[in-house]
Amino acid sequence: PVIYVLNGPNLNLLGTREPEIYGTDTLDDIAGRLDDQARTLGFEIDFRQSNHEGHLIDWLHEAQAEGAKAVLLNAGAYTHTSIALHDAIKSIKVPVIEVHLSDPKKREEFRHISYVGMAAHSCIAGHGAKSYELALDVAARL
Ligand code: DQA
Repeated sequence: PVIYVLNGPNLNLLGTREPEIYGTDTLDDIAGRLDDQARTLGFEIDFRQSNHEGHLIDWLHEAQAEGAKAVLLNAGAYTHTSIALHDAIKSIKVPVIEVHLSDPKKREEFRHISYVGMAAHSCIAGHGAKSYELALDVAARL
């Protein structure tokens, strides 16, 4: 079984992007650790990043078409703006776990609304890069 891990805008710059907020791990570091963890749990992960909203929507549809067990979604700032992503999550039966490195609820007010969260199964946020590992544990137990 496969678990999709989808990453949105600016997350390709992890490692150098505002390290005081997001830490110094790169997205490749995170993907590598998740790969090991997934194998231990008996899963495979399909790890992707795009700066384009429509790609994320297409990949959510694909997750359903491919029979993915779950999706971990860090939609970056689209979390707080995208009704289209909200609708895409609602349009599929695959459970989507919202993931964030930081805790948006403790940051600027414009990050307090989550269109993703209103449609997602659950949310793991505020644990830095470990948020992904915690979310994968949750996904594996669904
Ligand atoms: C983020 C939080 C978002 O508010 C922000 O726009 C990001 C990263 C996080 O992982 O903490 O790009 O999703």
